[in-house]
Amino acid sequence: MDDLHPTLLPSASWAAALGLREPLPIALLSLPALAGPIPPPLPTLLSATEQDRYQSFRHPKRQQEWLGGRITAKAAVATLLTTGTRPAPAATTLVIASDHAGKPRLELPGLAQTVHLSISHSHNQAVAMASFHPCGIDLQISTSTAARVKERFTTPAEETLLTTSLGEHSETMQLTLLWAAKEALRKMMPISPLLGFHDAVLTGIQPADKAHLLLFSSPKMCHNTPHPLRVVATVLGEYALALSVLPTTATTD
Ligand SMILES: CC(C)(COP(=O)(O)OP(=O)(O)OC[C@H]1O[C@@H](n2cnc3c(N)ncnc32)[C@H](O)[C@@H]1OP(=O)(O)O)[C@@H](O)C(=O)NCCC(=O)NCCS
Repeated sequence: MDDLHPTLLPSASWAAALGLREPLPIALLSLPALAGPIPPPLPTLLSATEQDRYQSFRHPKRQQEWLGGRITAKAAVATLLTTGTRPAPAATTLVIASDHAGKPRLELPGLAQTVHLSISHSHNQAVAMASFHPCGIDLQISTSTAARVKERFTTPAEETLLTTSLGEHSETMQLTLLWAAKEALRKMMPISPLLGFHDAVLTGIQPADKAHLLLFSSPKMCHNTPHPLRVVATVLGEYALALSVLPTTATTD
């Protein structure tokens, strides 16, 4: 069952690029570890209500994605909350619920600070991150779909920026990085309905440690939203990973 332990990605430089001083734990898990005839040890991973939710899924793929999201989210939250004097909380005490729109939220009584989290799954992987600030993460496997539907999330001006600044990647991966970046922003921004893909406009790209820092403007930003919005985007094998954090406690909903 060692396969059920997510990998914590080295994220210190990404946190710094996003303007954070504290850690930004990001956990990644391979979903095939959750497949097969032997069920994972649910009672050590999930609370009673989460176990009921797990059993309610009819489709094995969706059940694995959901479980992978919970396992990675709990690993990221536990890492965020563990300090020299405070031991790691047990996974079963960290209840990951969802709001009416599907946005994940942590239910853990007695916390001094709100913990925000974000989950994504794509193809064979699940990923999650936790922060004391609103955050969004997105993982996208790079396929020809990105080019086929590019008008839905990109403009010619954004494509020119991608070509100029991300020339080391294929056109498909460039588009997938932008797609993932906009999905991360949509999950992060505390607005309802979610930000539209064309409501976030790519205005610049800078190098970051083994990654890219994508800068966005948005007409949907309110007066206290930092400008520009920053997203770290990187390539993990055949996937694009993007993450963003709002380094403010202000929300607009
Ligand atoms: C939410 C959304 C951005 C997810 O992106 P995706 O690329 O399709 O899927 P991902 O695997 O990357 O992310 C899925 C995870 O996003 C999270 N999520 C779902 N809704 C969310 C929201 N409104 N805000 C932030 N995160 C959300 C969930 O944790 C979900 O995983 P889980 O259901 O297993 O917990 C996308 O599905 C979307 O645009 N949905 C529209 C939702 C909407 O407007 N609903 C209105 C109903 S009130």
